[in-house]
Amino acid sequence: MISPTSTFFTATISLLLLSSLTLRAHGQTTSAEPKMISSAWLAGWHTANATPTFDLNNISWSKYTDLYFSFALPTVDTSVLTLDGSNGEVLPSFVEQAHSNGVNAHVSVGGWGGSIYFSTAVGSAENRTQFVKAITDFAANYSLDGINFDWEYPNHQGIGCNVVNADDTDNFLAFLQELRADPVGANLTLSAATALTPFFDSNGIALTNVSAFADIFDFITVMNYDVWGSWNTGVGPNAPLNDSCAAKANQQGSAVSAVTAWYTAGMPVEKIVLGVPSYGHSFSVNQTSAFVSTSTIELAAYPAFNTTDFPLGDSWDTAATEPDACGLLENNGGVYDFWSLIENGYLDAEGNFTSAFPHRFDECSQTPYLYIEDSELMISFDNAESFTAKGNFITDYGLAGFAIWEAGGDYNDILLDAIRSAVGLEDDC
Ligand SMILES: *[C@@H]1O[C@H](CO)[C@@H](O)[C@H](O)[C@H]1NC(C)=O
Ligand SMILES: *[C@@H]1O[C@H](CO)[C@@H](O)[C@H](O)[C@H]1NC(C)=O
Ligand SMILES: *[C@@H]1O[C@H](CO)[C@@H](O)[C@H](O)[C@H]1NC(C)=O
Ligand SMILES: *[C@@H]1O[C@H](CO)[C@@H](O)[C@H](O)[C@H]1NC(C)=O
Ligand SMILES: *[C@@H]1O[C@H](CO)[C@@H](O)[C@H](O)[C@H]1NC(C)=O
Ligand SMILES: *[C@@H]1O[C@H](CO)[C@@H](O)[C@H](O)[C@H]1NC(C)=O
Ligand SMILES: *[C@@H]1O[C@H](CO)[C@@H](O)[C@H](O)[C@H]1NC(C)=O
Ligand SMILES: *[C@@H]1O[C@H](CO)[C@@H](O)[C@H](O)[C@H]1NC(C)=O
Ligand SMILES: *[C@@H]1O[C@H](CO)[C@@H](O)[C@H](O)[C@H]1NC(C)=O
Repeated sequence: MISPTSTFFTATISLLLLSSLTLRAHGQTTSAEPKMISSAWLAGWHTANATPTFDLNNISWSKYTDLYFSFALPTVDTSVLTLDGSNGEVLPSFVEQAHSNGVNAHVSVGGWGGSIYFSTAVGSAENRTQFVKAITDFAANYSLDGINFDWEYPNHQGIGCNVVNADDTDNFLAFLQELRADPVGANLTLSAATALTPFFDSNGIALTNVSAFADIFDFITVMNYDVWGSWNTGVGPNAPLNDSCAAKANQQGSAVSAVTAWYTAGMPVEKIVLGVPSYGHSFSVNQTSAFVSTSTIELAAYPAFNTTDFPLGDSWDTAATEPDACGLLENNGGVYDFWSLIENGYLDAEGNFTSAFPHRFDECSQTPYLYIEDSELMISFDNAESFTAKGNFITDYGLAGFAIWEAGGDYNDILLDAIRSAVGLEDDC
């Protein structure tokens, strides 16, 4: 995982809050406040042949301003984008229904498993021209409003078999500039799904000046999730709101650190959309480790988990028997979508804790945790309370809005309604 060195960022927090509040107080008062972005990614592979499916009929269209169909993948041939693995047949209907509901239809390009050939696609002047054509032809063919570039990550290995080049970030910028100069590209909403830290320069160091990217992108969606998972040694928050209030060893990045890092490097707060998860991570934790002591049901913070036992999550989880995009077997993912926490009875039908399962809410990261004693599972996830906290943060810092990975993870819009309400969007349904 990519994590910032938090001391530096902590120092700039109050500066950030102050400037964003100042900005809001002075307001761009001549026109109405820009509309808050209420968005989510739609995982194409869950629209069919999944249990349960989450298809176009499941989408609460009227509650979104933007949706990102996921994913189109760059391929070994720079001139070709593929929708393989994402049930691409549904894309024309997705765009049609989005437009009839006044929702901007984007396609997200790349993703964790789809970033293998990004580096080659932008790797030379000739390839960039070819890739611009691939993107603009694709966008025109499907009548898209926008493209969301989800390269995980420029000059930083992601899944393990991505092509990586020291010049990735410079090449990405040159490609984006060429895309913007194209008549079709000029008309598209361009965004990037990013890590918590700005793109890496040729030395592998996060950029301290992203203003050239800020000039191109309409917004970035900062993926503040998978901050803690089975790759750590303790159970921590999947999507911490804050970490500067946590012990040093537990500062792995957060919404606060990410917004500070991007803003300090020159990304205006009003171009930062906070990525928020509708899922959590599970860990195998024995009862000795799970509780503060044997005489209480108070859950321990950051307990060690069994690093040789990777529990399978819900029916959407990736099992250890399924090869990843590199063709390798990984551990079970351990992911529980919010709907599955309710369907398993770990939370009640309103998404609240029940007395049947020990739980805690971590104040610093604003994260709920659950413990299932029978299966010795500890789960860190997000609920209405943590989504409300994130929504309040978006409002207080003057961010552009939120983006949920993924639309299908929710249950009866409990999470979506909570964050919409916190960012001041009416329930117009
Ligand atoms: C989608 O809607 C169907 C029909 O109402 C429902 O059975 C299914 O559980 C929904 N999918 C999700 C992921 O909520
Ligand atoms: C350009 O793209 C082709 C595939 O279309 C690839 O084989 C080649 O390596 C790329 N060039 C660079 C410099 O990445
Ligand atoms: C254009 O869209 C149609 C579906 O409307 C699809 O069948 C076709 O493969 C697409 N072509 C390209 C080049 O993406
Ligand atoms: C630009 O977008 C507008 C609105 O989506 C559309 O009407 C127009 O045809 C587009 N122009 C080009 C060159 O694609
Ligand atoms: C950041 O980069 C831009 C060019 O992309 C330059 O104009 C600007 O002066 C730089 N800002 C700082 C603080 O170095
Ligand atoms: C984050 O934590 C720091 C240090 O405790 C605190 O000063 C700051 O107000 C917190 N920010 C948010 C948004 O919670
Ligand atoms: C409980 O788990 C911890 C951390 O994985 C481990 O060190 C300890 O040996 C375990 N205790 C028992 C009784 O299995
Ligand atoms: C960890 O899990 C493995 C596999 O279930 C088990 O054999 C082992 O005893 C566990 N270790 C601890 C310390 O609990
Ligand atoms: C249950 O959760 C909802 C939000 O989903 C909240 O409004 C309500 O107050 C909660 N009820 C209790 C008893 O905590």
